[in-house]
Amino acid sequence: VKTNRTDSFSSSFVSKMQASGRNVIVLYGSQTGTAEEFSSRLAKDAVRYGMKAMVADPEECELDEISKLADINNNLIIFCMATYGEGDPTDNAQELFEWLNDNGGGVELNDVNYAVFGLGNKTYEHYNAMGKLVDEKLQEMGATRVVELGLGDDDCNIEEDFVSWKEKLWPAVCERFNIDATASDISVRQYAVTEFTDTPEQKVFKGEPARLGSLKNQKPPFDQKNPFLAKIITNRELHNGGDRSCMHVEVDIEGSKLRYESGDHIAIYATNDSFLVDGIGKRLKIDLDTVFSLTNVDEDASKKYPFPCPTTYRTALTHYLDITSPLRTNVLKDLAEYAKDEEEKKQLLLMASSSNEGKELYNNWILKDHRHILAVLEDMPSLEPAIDHLCEILSRLQPRYYSISSSPKLHPTAVHITAVLVDWTTPTNRNQKGVATWYLKNKIPMENLQPTAPVFIRKSQFRLPFKPSTPVIMVGPGTGIAPFRGFIQDRAAQKRAGKPTGEMVLYFGCRHRAEDYLYEDELKEFVEEGVLSKLHVAFSRDQKDKIYVQHLLRENKQEVARLLRKESAHIYVCGDAKHMAHDVDLALQEALEAEENWTSQQAQDFLKTLRSRGRYSCDVWS
Ligand code: FAD
Ligand code: 2AM
Repeated sequence: VKTNRTDSFSSSFVSKMQASGRNVIVLYGSQTGTAEEFSSRLAKDAVRYGMKAMVADPEECELDEISKLADINNNLIIFCMATYGEGDPTDNAQELFEWLNDNGGGVELNDVNYAVFGLGNKTYEHYNAMGKLVDEKLQEMGATRVVELGLGDDDCNIEEDFVSWKEKLWPAVCERFNIDATASDISVRQYAVTEFTDTPEQKVFKGEPARLGSLKNQKPPFDQKNPFLAKIITNRELHNGGDRSCMHVEVDIEGSKLRYESGDHIAIYATNDSFLVDGIGKRLKIDLDTVFSLTNVDEDASKKYPFPCPTTYRTALTHYLDITSPLRTNVLKDLAEYAKDEEEKKQLLLMASSSNEGKELYNNWILKDHRHILAVLEDMPSLEPAIDHLCEILSRLQPRYYSISSSPKLHPTAVHITAVLVDWTTPTNRNQKGVATWYLKNKIPMENLQPTAPVFIRKSQFRLPFKPSTPVIMVGPGTGIAPFRGFIQDRAAQKRAGKPTGEMVLYFGCRHRAEDYLYEDELKEFVEEGVLSKLHVAFSRDQKDKIYVQHLLRENKQEVARLLRKESAHIYVCGDAKHMAHDVDLALQEALEAEENWTSQQAQDFLKTLRSRGRYSCDVWS
């Protein structure tokens, strides 16, 4: 999808750099905001080394212009590129992806210097594919790599990977440009604050992601920037007892013109717990209802505000800022200047430093203990940060995605969600509530109370085969069942309409038959109706030894091999990316080896071919 390029930008980002004396440009491929945030941090770093940088969205750049960077002395283009799904670029890097694959249409990048940091997750098969592609292609096109490709692993500690890479980047850049490699220690503020006392109410943002008043004055088309304020019409518990909760939520999209297909995702703009927001306000002794704006001090920057402004501190902390994730090292570094106690200052600076001792402390005190902003403020009583500075450095709160668990064929005006409540206790004994799942948990429709939530739909590639007669195997333990409920409903509608439908085999897994067997009654009805041909359920905790879906796949190797080899079935895996998807892949491999008398290489190659032909798809998250 091509978005509107801002004219000033597309006219020439290189001329713009030249006019404002910049030699560094940072492009980001970002889906959840991390790559964009890392890009801003790199631009701020550049200032510390006496350079001037700008951050840009590749979607807004004329990509052929990259070659013109050669006209700028000491030029550097840095890419922060996230990889998604099955090795895919982020939406905003789609054009860049195509441009690279086309070798930029033959453009030459001699005398252009570049560096790449990839953001990926090792639990996915195509680890950091996008970062690797950018690095490889720029080299091929003649650009000069200033520092080796950095690979961030979100499954482990991406913050540390990024910081370690930056430590190699800047000395390498300084050496190449023959400039002094000592960074100044000044804290660079990117935004200036203005507080207002007389802004009319209707001019103040109240949580809209982009257009002022968009949640009140709803106008289609609805998308990420203009979400639909949907009614929550059903919200019920799916578990029978036990100490966990899984919600079945139905979102009304009637009249929105939103369309979806089974396999798509719905995104929700949730808000932070008011208890935490009030906690920050009290701790910093500020009036949360003050109206303010943060405006970029760099007038040429493409991003004028870090989030919609003017707004109040309460709205910023409730809607726009992530206040529940462990703090990043750059935040700790900026916070240090506000510590009155020398010990606390020392500890903050140590955690933000690159020493092994600092990294270990950061790992333990911030990551393992999961200290978010309020926890750090509570545990470091001398810290008195300025609220506007805090608002500048905290990450943006991101929408949360859910695999839609209904089919438009049965539910054209409703989207169903199957979400497990996130609620746990940190090692410092703090109750940590999942932002979006608790937000949903509290949205109970009542006779005189109609809760709503801002939502949008994201299209996915996770689709049933084109022909309803093609057999499918679906593997989805826990909430991994979500998209399959949609798939099953799709096939039920087709069967009811008299179309011949193929075999549908579902592997579901849960802890206890009596407790968390999601949609048990519905699934059994689909079996009776002949929509589901087989329902294999692994109860992991109903006996001494664990039984998981992959154990059942191994047991049913004959069926697996028959469907995949002889019947050209499609196979789908959904749910936990960390272990399950990999374990299932291994089980499939072993089942095929045993049944077909194959070597493990043969089985692996077969599965690889399935993937490349779109017959083996995953919808997994961590
Ligand atoms: P957050 O506030 O984001 O907190 C979650 C974070 O807390 C975790 O990432 C982890 O860092 C930490 N955490 C949680 N528990 C622990 C613990 N015990 N110990 C240490 N740290 C912990 N979820 C579903 O339930 N159903 C779905 O169908 C579904 N589909 C998805 C599809 C996609 C494409 C993606 C990307 C995700 C999907 N998710 C789904 C996950 C969902 O988007 C949210 O991440 C999840 O609901 C948690 O959101 P939250 O805001 O409540 O929690
Ligand atoms: P457990 O919690 O008893 O370990 C849904 O969460 C189901 O998936 C649960 O029964 C859970 O079992 C199971 N599960 C946990 N790890 C798994 C893995 N690596 N592969 C498959 N299923 C797993």
